[in-house]
Amino acid sequence: MQAKPFLSIEGVDMTFKRGAATTQVLKGIDLTVDKGEYISIIGHSGCGKSTLLNIVAGLTKATTGVVLLEDKVVDQPGPDRGVVFQNHSLLPWLTVYENVALAVDKVFGKAKSAPERREWVMRNLELVHMGHARDKRPSEISGGMKQRVGIARALAMEPKILLLDEPFGALDALTRAHLQDQVMQIQADLGTTVMMITHDVDEAVLLSDRIVMLTNGPSANIGEILAVPLARPRDRIKLATDPIYLKCRQAVLRFLYERNRFVEAA
Ligand SMILES: Nc1ncnc2c1ncn2[C@@H]1O[C@H](COP(=O)(O)OP(=O)(O)OP(=O)(O)O)[C@@H](O)[C@H]1O
Ligand SMILES: [Mg+2]
Repeated sequence: MQAKPFLSIEGVDMTFKRGAATTQVLKGIDLTVDKGEYISIIGHSGCGKSTLLNIVAGLTKATTGVVLLEDKVVDQPGPDRGVVFQNHSLLPWLTVYENVALAVDKVFGKAKSAPERREWVMRNLELVHMGHARDKRPSEISGGMKQRVGIARALAMEPKILLLDEPFGALDALTRAHLQDQVMQIQADLGTTVMMITHDVDEAVLLSDRIVMLTNGPSANIGEILAVPLARPRDRIKLATDPIYLKCRQAVLRFLYERNRFVEAA
């Protein structure tokens, strides 16, 4: 018997209704993800990437189809799926430490003692090199630092899968590169399964095991899935001239700019 997939998205359609108007955003999305895999979803703006991620997160209910995580139907948000959004979603009145502790207390309130939970919060902050800023509030730290805290908060819940919606989108190029390297390192150390949405072709190739390319909406579906057969750990400088890297990059560019040119919705 074939092993069951870790994450399985089966026949997902999504139609939004507003009054008499209906828009089908996603149509017939089928995708399976293995444990430990790093998957990117790429596609033009408005094609339905965030909608798909929100369905996997359990924040949005698909019109038809199901999502199974280790054979369990996803029908609401849960700590087995750690979500990081593009715009840092930290609570502004809490410190860095308290933002992570809130999630940890909720998930491990019963399973871990108070000192164990404190240690766990700090361990996850150290993982993203933010232990030093534990007592700062979100308004006192940079955008990249906020994203790191968001990642620490998601990881601290020990999710089965990390769902990242353009996690580096709002950052400058240098901070973005630095954080991408950190996420690659964390994934190598913890073996986390990741589903990441991105607009950025280089980011997709650098980080992913497979790149899922969505066609333009309405009724977007999976146009192509590209495997990225590059050994890990990956070094961005060496890869810049690697023929496999360049070939993958070109395949994604071709998909996005030749076969699925961005058309501004009327
Ligand atoms: N709650 C909603 N009600 C109605 N329409 C919605 C809703 N959420 C999303 N949409 C529509 O669904 C489409 C896909 O939106 P989505 O946010 O998933 O796109 P995206 O691929 O993430 O875009 P971007 O790259 O700009 O973030 C858009 O046309 C959007 O207007
Ligand atoms: Mg989006």
